[in-house]
Amino acid sequence: MKIVVLNGSPKGRNSVTMQYLLYIKKKYPQHEVNLLKISSRIKKYEKKEEEFNKILDEIDQADIIIWGTPVYVMLVPYQLKRFIELIEERGKIDIFRNKYTAIITTSIRFYDSMAINYLHGIIDDWNMKFAGFFSADSYDLLHTKERTRLLKFFDYICYVFENKIETPKQYFKISPVESNYDPTINESDSNFEKLDIGEKSIRIITDSGDLESNLGKMVSTFQSFFSKPIEVINLNDINIKGGCLGCLHCAYDNVCAYGDKDEYMNFYNAKIPNTDIIIFAGNLVDRYLSSRWKLFFDRAFFNTHIPTMINSQLAYIISGSLSENTNLHDILRALSEFQRANLEDIVTDEKKSSEEIKKSLYDLAKRLKWCVEHNYIKPKTFLGEGGMKIFRDDVWGRNRFVFQADHKFYTEHGYYDSFPQNDIRAEKTNEYVMNNITNDPDKRTLFYQAIVGEFVKPFKKVLKNPDK
Ligand SMILES: Cc1cc2nc3c(=O)[nH]c(=O)nc-3n(C[C@H](O)[C@H](O)[C@H](O)COP(=O)(O)O)c2cc1C
Repeated sequence: MKIVVLNGSPKGRNSVTMQYLLYIKKKYPQHEVNLLKISSRIKKYEKKEEEFNKILDEIDQADIIIWGTPVYVMLVPYQLKRFIELIEERGKIDIFRNKYTAIITTSIRFYDSMAINYLHGIIDDWNMKFAGFFSADSYDLLHTKERTRLLKFFDYICYVFENKIETPKQYFKISPVESNYDPTINESDSNFEKLDIGEKSIRIITDSGDLESNLGKMVSTFQSFFSKPIEVINLNDINIKGGCLGCLHCAYDNVCAYGDKDEYMNFYNAKIPNTDIIIFAGNLVDRYLSSRWKLFFDRAFFNTHIPTMINSQLAYIISGSLSENTNLHDILRALSEFQRANLEDIVTDEKKSSEEIKKSLYDLAKRLKWCVEHNYIKPKTFLGEGGMKIFRDDVWGRNRFVFQADHKFYTEHGYYDSFPQNDIRAEKTNEYVMNNITNDPDKRTLFYQAIVGEFVKPFKKVLKNPDK
């Protein structure tokens, strides 16, 4: 069988993910397994169409295509996202149609599911035949049990291919937004009174300079609601030399390997942290925002796992059918919650009249003003809470020697507070009191009869003296 692997790692052959594929290759000499460098050669494919076509010829001849990629900021790396865009922009999707395909990712399993959902969506959009995914922890290959599991997955893909088994589509094409937003609607409406946010800082970051697009017009409308001028930064005006290299140069002291070779790090440090209100504006492109936005998020990795938007008010203005892309919705929420910022809302232009879009934008501006004035940050959901616990464990444990800046920050800012091993009181109560009660069948019955009432006892104390 001829198998091609689309290598999504910017590290090329030194990629951790590729070690998994090389292992498969070694164990199955009867198959031709061809690892194609996609991410590490993306600039070449962008600039030289003949190189791009050469790689497509290889893909065209394959029986099975494996997307082998690390997870970067809850998705695939910017470079692989750009490759997906190139396929679509250059009308090459047909090469992928009806091909059997599978996904192998490595990561620390921080929102690996979202990256897999994204790729699965692209696979369904391109009418490929999805044979399954395998999400490995970066270190899994070092364990016999996990190596066995990996080989079984490969056997499984071969079985699906050889027996022409089909799995049902999970994702359906996202509808384009047809309506044209007219910002002149209700221009003289006195309900759109200018909003004064005093000294609070506010910025809009966008990836579009097209003022006539729905996105451009929504951004202009939003700006017009405030009494003071609002800075709008177009990501395309910033000199960004390339995607994150995954080199971990930043892990010790949060200095990116690109340094002063491009403008990204200086731009980020000057414009993002300590901004009271940040609006991110973008168009839906395939099943994410544009690759320019992905570049922005990936390159922010020079901050490693340290939040840089703590207590900021965030909002997204998006042109596109976000309601048909819950995966992206969750990514944006998870990113904000990890940042300890308040994602106030996401306003889109889908299924709305111009009046409704304008009103949504104005109401968003009003809500942001209220939240920033009252310093209101929503509590985290599972997305922020669960994600942070994964980072905390990883930085505390096996990856501390790499991410020393994270460890310093987490120690100084109390991020290790809820470790079970630090809660000595709970540990001792469980060991010496509670376990004795619950291990005794008679006491256990009484204990569980009383527990519901006991749980709310401390809350009742609060309700008795609400002003305390
Ligand atoms: C820029 C960057 C972003 C990352 N984002 C994530 C992430 O969102 N979730 C996760 O679990 N791991 C994340 N990782 C960890 C990588 O997925 C992991 O180390 C992977 O095994 C690297 O594979 P590779 O060597 O093939 O590139 C990130 C690493 C980098 C450098």
